[in-house]
Amino acid sequence: LVNNFQADGEPLIASLALSGIAFSATYSMIRWLGPSFMKAGLRGVDMSKHHKREIPECMGGICAVVYLLVIIVFIPFPFYKDIVAATSGGGNRDVVFQIENVQQGRFLHRFPHSKLASYLSAIISLQSIALLGIGDDLFDIRWRHKLFIPAFASIPLLVVYFVDFGVTSIVVPIPLQPYLGELFNLGFLYYVYMCCIAIFSPNSINILAGINGIEVSQSIVIALLLAINDCLYLLTPYPHPATDSHLFSLYFLLPFLGVSFALLWHNWYPAKVFVGDTYCYFAGMVFVVVSILGHFSKTLVLLLIPQIFNFIYSAPQLFGLVPCPRHRLPKFNVRTGLLEPSVTPWTPERQPKPLVKTVMLLLHRLRLLRVATDAEGRFVETSNFTILNLWLVWRGPLKEERLAVEITAMQMAVGLFGLFIRHRLALLVFKE
Ligand code: UD1
Ligand code: MG
Repeated sequence: LVNNFQADGEPLIASLALSGIAFSATYSMIRWLGPSFMKAGLRGVDMSKHHKREIPECMGGICAVVYLLVIIVFIPFPFYKDIVAATSGGGNRDVVFQIENVQQGRFLHRFPHSKLASYLSAIISLQSIALLGIGDDLFDIRWRHKLFIPAFASIPLLVVYFVDFGVTSIVVPIPLQPYLGELFNLGFLYYVYMCCIAIFSPNSINILAGINGIEVSQSIVIALLLAINDCLYLLTPYPHPATDSHLFSLYFLLPFLGVSFALLWHNWYPAKVFVGDTYCYFAGMVFVVVSILGHFSKTLVLLLIPQIFNFIYSAPQLFGLVPCPRHRLPKFNVRTGLLEPSVTPWTPERQPKPLVKTVMLLLHRLRLLRVATDAEGRFVETSNFTILNLWLVWRGPLKEERLAVEITAMQMAVGLFGLFIRHRLALLVFKE
């Protein structure tokens, strides 16, 4: 630990300090700029309240800007030693001098251009996704277009991955090894898989939304778990070969946590601002950036289990088997002040297809959906397919704050379990 830290600890301290600055800057800018956002039309109604007030929307834009500036300011820190080494002893002088040095066998420090390329590609990806987010908050971009923008944003990452690392094989679990061998090369498909993660992660956070604080709190939990995972690699008694990529990941996660906590402060129940799609996309892309460039995209998949569940569960509505209203957030009961599952109404004329109906009744039996029928067995209403509504089907009506706490705790528990599997149980299924 001491060795690891002495070698690489200084940039980490700088990163921590900058994250603190990011927190304060975001915290105060959200307060100052809220009214300007309202004036510019970036505002939304908080639907689950007695007094339906309009509050500023798209505050994730502030997070993204502060974050990007901080990350850019940070660039010299991890390269400080390389810059000094490369410029002292004439490393940066004219070509003739360099050739002389090489001819005389003198060692010249080579600047780690590939590491810098990783940083820059990460920044390009994050900037692209911030553009998409702001575009979506301003113009409500259509679903089918939104889906592919993260794929474009991931191209710089994939190029760097290809040139720098290029591993496209996965370790095969022991029971399957007799058939597939120890390593299975996915080749080109591995890039398709990473691209899918880049599309999935931002969108999945955006659809696990609709109650105060939940977009930010789930993102904070995922970022914290990724940071814990990084620390597990940095705290090994011997320098782990993956030290560099996990430091890289921490440099990107710490400022993200800084801006996110500042946003949560304002967005937690009762929300004074909304985060907007900008924040959801941006958060999702931060995870994609660190996990692709840090070479641990499979760990990210483990930490996104609640989001994956929410997506699969949402599929009937996302893919149009069941109508999907503009908003699926839980319904606020004005009388009790509690949240209840929101529903899709059905009329006697417009009923689901027989097969869909059967499946929905089965889900109702399994307590995975709530279906209300009339005397003749016709559907009257069915709860919307989101994990928030499902949680309310299970737990009964809840206060908005309580629901947010419970879902966040569930995300934490599932994520910790995922990390446990990754680090302990994996040894049973995979040889070290
Ligand atoms: C996604 C969800 C949608 C959900 C919405 C809520 C899908 C396919 N889309 O849409 O079902 O209703 O997020 O964020 O699952 N709002 C609140 N309270 C909150 C958060 C948001 O009332 O705590 C309302 C506000 O009116 C706010 C609006 O939701 O203005 C923001 O919705 P937006 O993020 O634009 O919705 P989508 O991401 O398109
Ligand atoms: Mg949204």
